[in-house]
Amino acid sequence: MCGIVGYVGEGQAASFLLDGLTRLEYRGYDSAGIAIYDGQKIQVEKSVGRLDSLKEKIKDAVPLGGLGIGHTRWATHGRPVEMNAHPHTDCTGEFVVVHNGIIENYLTLKEELIQQGHTFKSDTDTEVAVHLLEEVYDGDFEKSVREVLHRIEGSYSLVFMSKKHPDRLICTKQDNPLIIGLGECENFIASDIPAIIDRTRRAYIVKDGEIVVVKKDAVKILHHDGTLGKLEVFHITWNAEAAEKGGYEHFMLKEIHEQPKAVRNTISPRIAKDGCSIVMDELQWDAEYLSSFHKIFMIACGTAYHAALVGKYYIEKLVRLPVEVDIASEFRYRSPILDEQTLAIVVSQSGETSDTLAALREAKKLGAKTLAITNVVGSSVAREAEQVLYTWAGPEIAVASTKAYTTQLATMFMLAVYMAGIKKNISSPRMQVLIQALQRLPEQLGKTMEDVEQIKTFAKQYGFREDVFFIGRSLDYSVALEGALKLKEISYIHAEAYAAGELKHGPLALVVEGLPVIVLATQKKVYEKTISNIKEIKARDAVVIGIAVEDDHELEKYVDHVIKVPVTEELLNPLLTVVPLQLLAYYAAIARGCDVDKPRNLAKSVTVE
Ligand code: M6R
Repeated sequence: MCGIVGYVGEGQAASFLLDGLTRLEYRGYDSAGIAIYDGQKIQVEKSVGRLDSLKEKIKDAVPLGGLGIGHTRWATHGRPVEMNAHPHTDCTGEFVVVHNGIIENYLTLKEELIQQGHTFKSDTDTEVAVHLLEEVYDGDFEKSVREVLHRIEGSYSLVFMSKKHPDRLICTKQDNPLIIGLGECENFIASDIPAIIDRTRRAYIVKDGEIVVVKKDAVKILHHDGTLGKLEVFHITWNAEAAEKGGYEHFMLKEIHEQPKAVRNTISPRIAKDGCSIVMDELQWDAEYLSSFHKIFMIACGTAYHAALVGKYYIEKLVRLPVEVDIASEFRYRSPILDEQTLAIVVSQSGETSDTLAALREAKKLGAKTLAITNVVGSSVAREAEQVLYTWAGPEIAVASTKAYTTQLATMFMLAVYMAGIKKNISSPRMQVLIQALQRLPEQLGKTMEDVEQIKTFAKQYGFREDVFFIGRSLDYSVALEGALKLKEISYIHAEAYAAGELKHGPLALVVEGLPVIVLATQKKVYEKTISNIKEIKARDAVVIGIAVEDDHELEKYVDHVIKVPVTEELLNPLLTVVPLQLLAYYAAIARGCDVDKPRNLAKSVTVE
């Protein structure tokens, strides 16, 4: 996620901008830049890679001046190259902007602005904001920013600077964080508290839709309707480390809680305005293209592999094309049968997993068409696959993958609905129902995290057992696999996932008195069968924790405890049922005193075979 900083005051802007951006490095980034007004002109400096490259670049001529903005970019629209790094300027170089988030209608605006004579220098969505400001500017900076906001759609935090108004910065936000740090004869803007923590402990947390005019000795808050807002001062008591984690104890917990927003970011740019269809500008497939495929392969590792198992279900159910799912490290060593009538989809959060990359290369060599589903713009798989769908989860720092999984699921679900629409395999009313369910997910994800007391209790109660079983049928089995992986990788508890129907083919021998068994039971077609499996387990005196949907009043009759998730379309249950399993793994690891964010022997990105 991008980092934003701004400074207006009697000191040197560069000093705060570079310190502040350093403090925001934990958010992840691939390029950085600053813009400083030196009394005559706005000087913009950018660099790809670490902040140190930017510092090195300007070390002999640090721009001077008390007004400036800075940015660390985590690429979304456009590759991580210098021309796409922020700040972005208008045609005249008199207006500058930094942005965090996604401007969803940027393509339409860009076309319009190009027709009006504007010249774009980057591939970013951000640049439209500053050209739009140039276009509507009538001498009144605030009013012009307001007009820009009327035109742009999406999620953002934005800071504008203008050579024509060197006493102020104007910022605003929608669904993205932004704070104002309040100093003496200087004020600060940042996307997160760690950036300002060394300079001040007094802050204003900007609310959605507000426009804030920041001068060195005054901060004016304007509501959406133009009325004046009140400057409520928030006193920061966190230390720097706690601030990086947004007040959460670990990145994993923060990232679990980021899922509603991450899923919203993934889906909202891809739902048509009328809510009736899925738009995939990145693909633009048609019936002829789709009919050229006889088979799909999905290839991935770890959590991404578990997500692909759900993706297979979505595509087979909605698109009626056969899908084979492969573990990337197995794929190329088993002479897979692929040709030009095959679509190979590789799934990878980092886009750098070496086995996944090798599998992608193998699929290409065999003549298959390739599509990458990844979270990192400009990553190796994104560059090497013919087509890419980004998951927009934002950087995932904890080794245990959480928001990457739910956004991968959301992406694959949309891909399946999109393909089904092209193939006319789905009626319009059904498509609308599925899309509406998708749109409800962010809020429902939030609900799954509201009451964690029960999960904490289970984690304490069963966290000291050495073995746990996870079972389920159909889609529930795929989630069981992910639940078991989460538990074993961070709490070091031996966790096994089985298709519930497989139990009596062997693993039932391990089911003994007191063994915790987590049973997912959300799929109607196999519900009764799952209940029979629960009975087999209970007959061996194991302890069963059921995961069910809210309107299920049956399961509690057969299990020891139930965790419920909100009701959604059955196909979307995995996005909700995985959350209690992530939380259970997290709290079990805490109960056992494990290093949650950096589990032993594991790395975030596995770039060796
Ligand atoms: O970056 P990728 O999605 O390609 O990574 C794949 C796996 O290494 C990753 O999902 C791993 O299993 C996680 N630690 C699971 O939490």
